[in-house]
Amino acid sequence: MQFKYTEEQLMIKQAARDFAQTELKPGVIERDDQQKFPAEQIKKLGELGFLGMMVSPQYGGSGMDAISYVLAMEEISRIDASTAVVLSVNNSLICNGLERFGNDFQKEKYLIPLAKGEKIGAFCLSEPEAGSDATSQNTTAIDMGDHYLLNGVKNWITNGSTASTYIVMAQTDASKGHHGINALIVERGMEGFTIGAKENKMGIRGSDTHSIMFTDVKVPKENRIGEEGFGFKFAMTMLEGGRIGIASQALGIAAGAYELALQYSKDRKAFGKSLADLQAIQFKLADMATEIEAARLLCVKAAWLKDHKQPYAQASSMAKLFASDVAMRVTVEAVQIHGGYGYVKEYHVERLMRDAKITQIYEGTSEIQRIVISREVLK
Ligand code: CAA
Repeated sequence: MQFKYTEEQLMIKQAARDFAQTELKPGVIERDDQQKFPAEQIKKLGELGFLGMMVSPQYGGSGMDAISYVLAMEEISRIDASTAVVLSVNNSLICNGLERFGNDFQKEKYLIPLAKGEKIGAFCLSEPEAGSDATSQNTTAIDMGDHYLLNGVKNWITNGSTASTYIVMAQTDASKGHHGINALIVERGMEGFTIGAKENKMGIRGSDTHSIMFTDVKVPKENRIGEEGFGFKFAMTMLEGGRIGIASQALGIAAGAYELALQYSKDRKAFGKSLADLQAIQFKLADMATEIEAARLLCVKAAWLKDHKQPYAQASSMAKLFASDVAMRVTVEAVQIHGGYGYVKEYHVERLMRDAKITQIYEGTSEIQRIVISREVLK
């Protein structure tokens, strides 16, 4: 067992860190305030290969491993968790799905521009009445011979208005339950495709989250991913990898808040000494550092299992469950260490605290992660 990153992994980490400092930090407070999507920054990240990190170069990707992805996600999330979620969805749920399960036509037409970052993808599983209970899909895709007729509403769609390619889970044969669900590639602009209201969120406000409506959208059969009825397994398989991305986002949020609190505690004087000289603050910093390191190890372990083609459902859920709780605890403490300054926007930690909360909710709540983990341990 080696606890050492490769030269390449460290280079990617550094590149992501530099990008976050120079391109994401300026304007991050304004983007959060104005709910402004980081369009220019995403374009540049695409040119640098961060939108299709794990996709083979044959399909326009960077051919990196999942550990590099964790490192990049951590660095981006330290500064701007809104940008990070765009990367996570595009890399884990969309590109990885098309590369693993798409056919040659789908890879050529959809995967290549997505992996190059020329286009962005969105993953449409959640519905107004199907969040955690993902098998209860009300969106329907009626088999019309050469196409499916898609009708329904999807909720909480990350990249809702900025994506071009949407992977939509829909029920074709209700009598088969989740075995009757298909995953369909839908293009923005297909007739009957409508982007709904934008959510005014507590955190990750730079990412655009919308509902999406489908009214008699004709989706060609060639746009179905995998065999008939493969849609639910497709979604679950993608979420296993997606949870590594969100765990790394949570890790980055925690690490970013910790870094700020550490610096502030050295700079700020109180009672004639630095905050960092007070044992009450030292103990907080020690707990934060320990929890962040444990979260990092869980993220990297899940990524290592994925890279080595070993089962990683339990590991990715453990990483997400733990890292998202760490993100909440650490960001709350970071605000506390900053005192009143922590409560205002200029000091960044209040934003990180708001951003942290979503990591306990999306791609499966903490309760869903416990279901996945307990099923594995009880097997
Ligand atoms: N890989 C492959 N197949 C899987 C799987 C996996 N990881 N997990 C489950 N399945 C299969 C099962 O084997 C089963 O198939 P069979 O009937 O053929 O055996 C089928 O899926 C149904 O599984 P369950 O009986 O376990 O289903 P369930 O309803 O009891 O529970 C669940 C499943 C774990 C609760 C699941 O519904 C779930 O993960 N829910 C949360 C959904 C979620 O994470 N949504 C996030 C939305 S996407 C998002 O947030 C992205 C974003 O924008 C940031």
